[in-house]
Amino acid sequence: MTEHEVRSLIGQVEVAVRDAIDRALPELAGADPVVRRSEHADFQSNAALALAKRARTRPAEVAGAVSEALRASTVTPVAEVTVSGPGFLNLTLTDVSLWQQVAARLASPRLGVGSPEQGRHTVVDYSGPNVAKEMHVGHLRTTIIGDSLVRVLGFLGAEVIRQNHLGDWGTQFGMLIQYLDDHPDATWHHDELTEGISTVSALDNLYRAARAAFDADPAFAERARTRVVALQAGDEDTVARWKEIVAESEFAFREIYHRLGVLLEPEDSDGESFYNFLLPDVVDELTSAGIAVESDGALVVFSEEVTGPDGNPVTLMVRKKDGGYGYDTTDLATIRYRVRDLKADRILYVVDSRQALHFRLIFEAARRAGWLTDGIDAAHVAHGAVLGPDGRPFKTRSGDTVKLMELLDHAVDRARAAIADKAHELTDEDLARIAEQAGIGAVKYADLSTSRIKDYVFDVERMVSFNGNTGVYLQYAHTRICSILRKAAADRATEVDPTLPLHPAERALILELDAFGDTLAEVGRTLEPHRLCGHLYDLAKAFTDFYEACPVLSAAEPVRTNRIALCQLSARTLGQGLNLLGIAAPERM
Ligand code: ARG
Repeated sequence: MTEHEVRSLIGQVEVAVRDAIDRALPELAGADPVVRRSEHADFQSNAALALAKRARTRPAEVAGAVSEALRASTVTPVAEVTVSGPGFLNLTLTDVSLWQQVAARLASPRLGVGSPEQGRHTVVDYSGPNVAKEMHVGHLRTTIIGDSLVRVLGFLGAEVIRQNHLGDWGTQFGMLIQYLDDHPDATWHHDELTEGISTVSALDNLYRAARAAFDADPAFAERARTRVVALQAGDEDTVARWKEIVAESEFAFREIYHRLGVLLEPEDSDGESFYNFLLPDVVDELTSAGIAVESDGALVVFSEEVTGPDGNPVTLMVRKKDGGYGYDTTDLATIRYRVRDLKADRILYVVDSRQALHFRLIFEAARRAGWLTDGIDAAHVAHGAVLGPDGRPFKTRSGDTVKLMELLDHAVDRARAAIADKAHELTDEDLARIAEQAGIGAVKYADLSTSRIKDYVFDVERMVSFNGNTGVYLQYAHTRICSILRKAAADRATEVDPTLPLHPAERALILELDAFGDTLAEVGRTLEPHRLCGHLYDLAKAFTDFYEACPVLSAAEPVRTNRIALCQLSARTLGQGLNLLGIAAPERM
């Protein structure tokens, strides 16, 4: 247990049931108590079914023995045990134990949440947009999911190292640089562009024009090729130009990160170019170990685990025929660097699921090279795609990819309309600020709340709805609790009276509040932020039920104070939860 940690009720029940099993059936000591939330009581233990098999008796007998032992114990939160069905134990906790949880969590600056990721050096590779290309909806998920994981893992104690693997290197830049030199009047610097056009969209267009010229004009194609060589050889003017393009693109990315409230900073960028000087050494190491081998003039790694449709092993391209290095080589370098230099215990690549094979092969090669060892967890944290209303990859009507900024503008517009419908006493300035928080929050929540690996349909109207499992619903639930607390003028620490009997709706709410820390720990293990979304949604619903059934402000003391404490803990838990999703939790809406 770390400082400020409060063991959850389910954790306490697990200890109690495990202890009862140890005493009732010493030959099965240490068995999993299989405790879950229950519809018939606070919790249930399903252990008897599995244990009966091992003890060669009937589940009912095991359940009876364990429940006897539980009843005999004095140091458990369990007030009542009943055996139901073939051998389930239904467990009801004392009211005191629930109120004590509320008091303990309120007293903790971190709501009693433990630090199960303490000290783990965790590299999170996310976002990774491509220089001179508009960030599009495809980069939305990696950026948003990565940001939430960074926040959750950091909160759980991990030493998080953010890595933005920018696509900032490659032969395409030679062509672009040549084109810019040929067209000195082209505008693309952020300070000369008109409002609404970003450097990257300007560069994106120029790059398309360069491609067209490359195909149509042999003289330009020749100059462009020479320029690629110059860039690779480190020619001063060419490199300066490339740096300018990278810096301008990063400026545009930063605008998006800032608007999304994403934690990425310029110092988190170690893009493809960063690895460039390491590549020859990585290749040497793989070649001397016999892992990279010649094939058709190129250097490749044949997989020992994966074969393609033709039955042959699939390959990683380590060095192309022309001597060039590509995406595969760079990612071999990322993993070596992260293990050796960043001292990573855990390396997460938050990248589109279509790159699954790529990462499988990278990890395999890294294991064979001895870079990845058993103590290091490397994972491709794969995510699905964002789809348009037609269920196909999201495109504009003209078939272009959808620009992220335009998408966000649209969501904020719709959120403004939805809020203006509801709240009448907001100033224009407040409305603008809250609409921004709600619109951005809505987009992020929609992305985070669908299971990461699944695709989802981008549907702005649904996202900004005040009903259902949406970001706006959660933000609104939070503002309602804040408004109750404002009316109660309860800023002082609240003294909970643990001897009061619990109303069923209070009970249900406390059980939800108490599960926050365990939910976060689970997100840390599974890397699935949608579990946190689901939990917060259940919490908001439990609060609504509580508030309908239990008057707060008009209740008589000491009940009133206890209920205010529940409001405080609910507001803080929802606020903290939204923060870990990277979503603002305004106090009014
Ligand atoms: N730039 C790549 C893309 O847009 C994503 C980079 C992901 N990270 C990595 N280490 N490969 O698809």
